[in-house]
Amino acid sequence: MAQPFDEAERAAVYRAIYERRDMRHFVPGPVDPATLRRLLDAAHHAPSVGFMQPWRIVRITDATLRTQLHAAVERERLATADALGKRHDEFMKLKVEGMRECGELLVVALMDRREPHIFGRRTLPEMDLASVACAIQNMWLAARAEGLGMGWVSIFDVDEVRELLAMPAGAKPVAILCLGHVAGFYPQPMLEMERWAERRALGECVYENRWPQGGAEEDRPSTA
Ligand SMILES: Cc1cc2nc3c(=O)[nH]c(=O)nc-3n(C[C@H](O)[C@H](O)[C@H](O)COP(=O)(O)O)c2cc1C
Repeated sequence: MAQPFDEAERAAVYRAIYERRDMRHFVPGPVDPATLRRLLDAAHHAPSVGFMQPWRIVRITDATLRTQLHAAVERERLATADALGKRHDEFMKLKVEGMRECGELLVVALMDRREPHIFGRRTLPEMDLASVACAIQNMWLAARAEGLGMGWVSIFDVDEVRELLAMPAGAKPVAILCLGHVAGFYPQPMLEMERWAERRALGECVYENRWPQGGAEEDRPSTA
């Protein structure tokens, strides 16, 4: 049987959870290949619905492709700003990606031909996406423990990225991951530091037995 974690190991797990940050500032420099391999393997050991393992990860090593992906994100960043209405200017001041500086760029996608995977997805087909998110979170936590920063960029047109990477129509890119060296980790979520949003109290998100009646706190938007 697997051994229990000792106190230091337990503390290390929680430290990685609390000190993981979505990073958008990187210092240039390559990621050690053995470290990258460990991080990819951490992603690959995530839980998945029906053990489907729907994650597909494309490592971007072509500089032109990186530039094209960045341009796609920039286009969608401007469209997002327009859609935000009165928060347009505030949004435009935020740094929402570090794609040009990071040592490694990875695109994570949902695999093609997901329809035959019914176990756990008959009523909740989006459990494939949940599984991919678990893989990304594994990598995020492992990267923090390795002292590397990671940022999830989801501001892009899906069809554009699919085409750029020659993905089949049934595959769906869901993340552009920036991975690399950082000067330091933000002490709080950057969106909190920039006063875009704040962390809700735990009690606002945890209920007992039934959904709270009469204007629960969750009705209050934390962002636009
Ligand atoms: C599914 C998902 C998509 C995200 N997309 C972006 C993004 O496109 N750009 C960005 O700057 N941050 C993105 N983030 C990072 C969030 O802004 C960040 O997780 C949140 O502000 C909390 O900060 P923390 O991760 O440092 O705790 C994304 C996070 C998740 C989970």
